This record gives sequence, C-alpha cells and structure tokens, in this order.
Amino acid sequence: MTDLAERLQQLQTDALAELDVAADARAVEGLRASLFGRSGRLTSLLRGLADEDPSDRPTTGKLANAVREALEAAIAERLTGMVEADARARLSGEELDMSAPGRPWRVGHLHPTMTVERDLREIFHAFGFEVFEGPEIETDEMNFEALNIPPDHPSRDLWDTLYVAEASGEPLKPAADGTILRTHTSPVQIRAMRALTPPIRVITPGRCFRYEAVDASHGFEFFQVEGLVVDHDTSLADLKGMLEEFARALYGEATKTRFRPGYYPFTEPSVAFDVSCLVCGGSGCAACGRSGWMTILGAGMVHPTVLRSGGIDPDEFQGYAFGMGLDRITLLRHGIPDLRLLMSPDLRFLEQFPAGR
Ligand code: PHE
Repeated sequence: MTDLAERLQQLQTDALAELDVAADARAVEGLRASLFGRSGRLTSLLRGLADEDPSDRPTTGKLANAVREALEAAIAERLTGMVEADARARLSGEELDMSAPGRPWRVGHLHPTMTVERDLREIFHAFGFEVFEGPEIETDEMNFEALNIPPDHPSRDLWDTLYVAEASGEPLKPAADGTILRTHTSPVQIRAMRALTPPIRVITPGRCFRYEAVDASHGFEFFQVEGLVVDHDTSLADLKGMLEEFARALYGEATKTRFRPGYYPFTEPSVAFDVSCLVCGGSGCAACGRSGWMTILGAGMVHPTVLRSGGIDPDEFQGYAFGMGLDRITLLRHGIPDLRLLMSPDLRFLEQFPAGR
C-alpha cells in the first residue's frame, strides 16, 4: 500500500470521527467544505494521484474513489437526519397552545372630564347646537374688551389672568400684543358672531386657565362649555326653558331647577342657574352647604355691547349665552373628592372611569 493510499484511509477514519461529533447541520457543512473544497483535505490528496507510480495508480485511484463516495454518503445521511431533527425541534418550540389565554390589549378611553364634554355635546346637538371652537391663547381684547370688560374695570378681578410673557427680558413683562391664556370660553362668543350669520346656535367647549392657588376645588386649568344663541326675538324665557331641559337631560327628569340674579359684564340681565343638590337631592348636605341647591352655570341675555363687538346689530337681534365648568360636573358625577385628581396622570385613578359611564 502506497503512502498516499494510507493517508486516504487515515483521512476517511478521521473524517468519519469528526462527522460523529458534529453537533449540527452547520458543523457538517463546515466539515464537507474542509474535505471537498478547492483546497480541502481530500481534494489535496487526490491531486497527489498524478504523482503515483503508474503501477500503483489504478489501486490507489479506486481507493480514492471509494473514500470520496463513503464520505459523501456519510455526510449526506447525517445531514438528512439533522435537517429533520432541526425541523422537529423548531416545530415543537413553536407549538401553538390554542387553549392559552390571549394577551390582553390595553385599550385607552376618554378622560372622565372629556366624557362629560362628549355627553354635553350630544345633549346640545339634540337641541340644535353646533360646535364652534376657539383658541386657548387669546388676546386681552377678545377675552375682556370685546366682552364689555374695559381695562381697569373692577370685574376683571373675577378672572385671575395668566399673561403670556415677552420672549426675553428680566423681569418678565406681559406680551406687548396682549396675549393671555383665556380665562373663560366667552371670547369664542365673539369669534362665533364674527364668523357666522344669525340665527346662531353654538356651543364652544374648551380649556381655560386662571391664576389660582391650586386646592381640592380650584385648578389653574379647567374646562368650560359655553353656549350662544343669537336670533330674532330671543328672550330670557327661551334661555330659561332651554336650560331647564338641559338640566333634566343631564341629571334626570326629577331634577329641580331655579334661577337667581347674577352678574356678568357680558350679559344683561345675568342669572345663576341652580339644580337640586346632586348629592342629597335637595334635603341639604355638606356638598351643597345645607342649601339643597348647587349652582351649575352662569347665563344671561347677551349685552348689546357684546353683540356689537361681534358685528351684530342689537336692534335687530338678541341672544342669550351661558357658560359652565366641566370639572365640577365630573367630580359630582363620580363622587371624586379632589379636583387635582383629574389632572393626575395615574392610570390607577383614570382606569376607574371608563368612557360611557
Ligand atoms: N364666562 C363666565 C365665567 O367664566 C360664564 C358665563 C358665560 C356667564 C356666558 C354668562 C354667560 O364665569
């Protein structure tokens, strides 16, 4: 037996041993390349055949073929087994357990105050009101002057205003163009009158801001819904009837209502509108200060000066307006004791009030 023949046999023994310990298909492919590749171990030995003595060549050549075939067959067999085992392993890992409980989707919902807003939109929609929205950053002119509250008028004290400051400079100065954060949704009355032609029937929901010391019942940020009707022959009787219907739609047929004189510079006459206490039903409790009543909104006939600010002739048209805070409605609806909770980002709080309740 020639030297080459011995080396071929040795290679076969070695390679089969390596095949035995190959862990996976990738290792087997690596072995195949190390044997049959261009500079593979078998390939190199086969090149040596040319140097064999011609008398040895047929025998060694046969042996070389036998070694190659044996290795190819062994590798192919091992690979088939491995591919199957791989597939089986993968499949069993991916097994679908149809009885396993699904992963819950976390679906968000409206904030409780926004649920109240949505309910009000629906009630007023049924009364024929459309929604008209205005900006949260307003001018002093729209928030006050157009609403019959001139500079230095004492009633400005009713609205503790947050002023937008000039971009630079110490100490901060109010912006020269008079930009403020609106203290109520009433400036949207002016915008609606300027944008629409009577008959006007709008509600204007939105966020308002006041410079308040925050406590359980005061926030610096809160929500209002304003209502405005401008038409021929609109009277206080219309306002009264509409608000009574509204209170029953929101709080139920049994709700009692009353009107008291009020004061707002932009309405004349002005009223405060009360409903029977939502906690005790009217018998008197801590929530209503033992009076049996709760004030839910302010309203009145639109002041002629305000109609004029809106570009409307007060000799031809009259109107009524009302404005209410949504935060208190929300607190009462759910028995929430502290207004600050409504601004809380704590999901444990918010998740107690799924929309639709
Ligand atoms: N703008 C008033 C407030 O914020 C509420 C109001 C609106 C009163 C419309 C009368 C008419 O207190």
